[in-house]
Amino acid sequence: MNNIDVKSINLADNEFWKNADREAAFATLRADLPVSWHEFPAGTPESGQKGFWAVTRYDDVVAVSSDSKLFINGEGTIMGDQSVEEAHQEGWFLNMDATQHFKLRQVVARAFSPQGVTKMTQAAQNYAQKIVAAVKERGECDYAREVAQPFPVEVVCDFLGAPQENRRRLHELTVTALAGDVLGADAPRAIAAAFAEMNDYGKQLAKEKRKNLGDDILSQIITTQVEGRSLSDEEAGYFFQLLVTAGMETTGTVGGHSMKCFLEFPEQMQVWANDPQGVGATGFEELVRWITPVMHMRRTATQDTEIAGQAIKAGEKVVMWYNSANRDESKFVNPNIFDVRRNPNPHLGFGGGGRHTCLGAHLARLELPFLVAETLKQMKNIEPAGEPVLVPSRFVNGLASMPIRFTAA
Ligand code: HEM
Repeated sequence: MNNIDVKSINLADNEFWKNADREAAFATLRADLPVSWHEFPAGTPESGQKGFWAVTRYDDVVAVSSDSKLFINGEGTIMGDQSVEEAHQEGWFLNMDATQHFKLRQVVARAFSPQGVTKMTQAAQNYAQKIVAAVKERGECDYAREVAQPFPVEVVCDFLGAPQENRRRLHELTVTALAGDVLGADAPRAIAAAFAEMNDYGKQLAKEKRKNLGDDILSQIITTQVEGRSLSDEEAGYFFQLLVTAGMETTGTVGGHSMKCFLEFPEQMQVWANDPQGVGATGFEELVRWITPVMHMRRTATQDTEIAGQAIKAGEKVVMWYNSANRDESKFVNPNIFDVRRNPNPHLGFGGGGRHTCLGAHLARLELPFLVAETLKQMKNIEPAGEPVLVPSRFVNGLASMPIRFTAA
């Protein structure tokens, strides 16, 4: 057991994410104070706002996530306060509750079903092959920046119907929107500006598409009726922004961190390289458990209640820590061992269940194994060529840089 003073842990503090031994701190919280209160310190973007409850055990995360009447999304899903208007502009139907949420999610639900995403199989395979091949002959690259991040950008943009020339910009905006909390005092302005630019871009694209419909998600969004009416360009823009934000950075993070994992656990890389078909599915789920690209989501209590014996008041913010649930000793055998064949693997990397479960999970499951398989096919003798650079965000477990060298196969 470690000797961390549980009272010294502040998950709202950016400093915690820069320095702390996260796993040890979360293990302490799960053991000693599974539902704990955190205040925003001076210097954080939310300084002056009321703090939040942190839920760190697996079963409690599932309980909160599953009760969408008691714990709602409509007042925002980030740890800071948001007006309802801001919450819609910066998360669209993720930040809504039944029945509004259900009706809007339905517009794209079939396209993102296991069957719907198979349409992207060939494109995902081709992009994986091409993106790895583009760096192969150099024998070195920044795997996070040059391979892992561009890959889902291409796949998601093809799926949505976003033209080639704006993809790099959309990715930059996504990084600011999701990991902008690392910017400190400038964060609120930068994050709001990134969301606004994406919303506006989506709105303009929707307007263009009305003149020239394609076989893509945005065309589907603007031609689907919701409650007997078409969605406006502005609403289509919010849809577009949510899907871009949710779909790029998350999957890129899994790709980048997959390399970090392989370098830390070379025998697991070998297992995957020897049998990419057989290991792809379980390996992907284990990467999502281990990395937990989206570390938390928040809900708001609608009435006085309790979680694991801790009283919670109506209106208080409750933040579910998926990264902690994914290492919960009561749920996973040897949670601190990275095992690409782990099965069963009931991780909460796509959320703790309930109505808001990740819409894009099947797309991520389809695309990412192609990238790993191509990497391990085209690159041999992979070794680090510098230190990985983590993004010290409180929200996403980002990886900004992962320099490697290798021999081309
Ligand atoms: C490995 C990659 C991914 C991870 C780890 C991930 C994680 C998550 C998590 C934790 C949530 C919140 C669940 C909840 O509150 O219960 C979520 C929601 C969502 N995700 Fe993902 N995601 C990934 C990929 C994607 C992709 C590729 C897309 C689409 C292109 C996507 C679209 C969404 C949407 C639209 C929501 C909101 C769902 C709702 O509110 O109904 N995600 N995701």
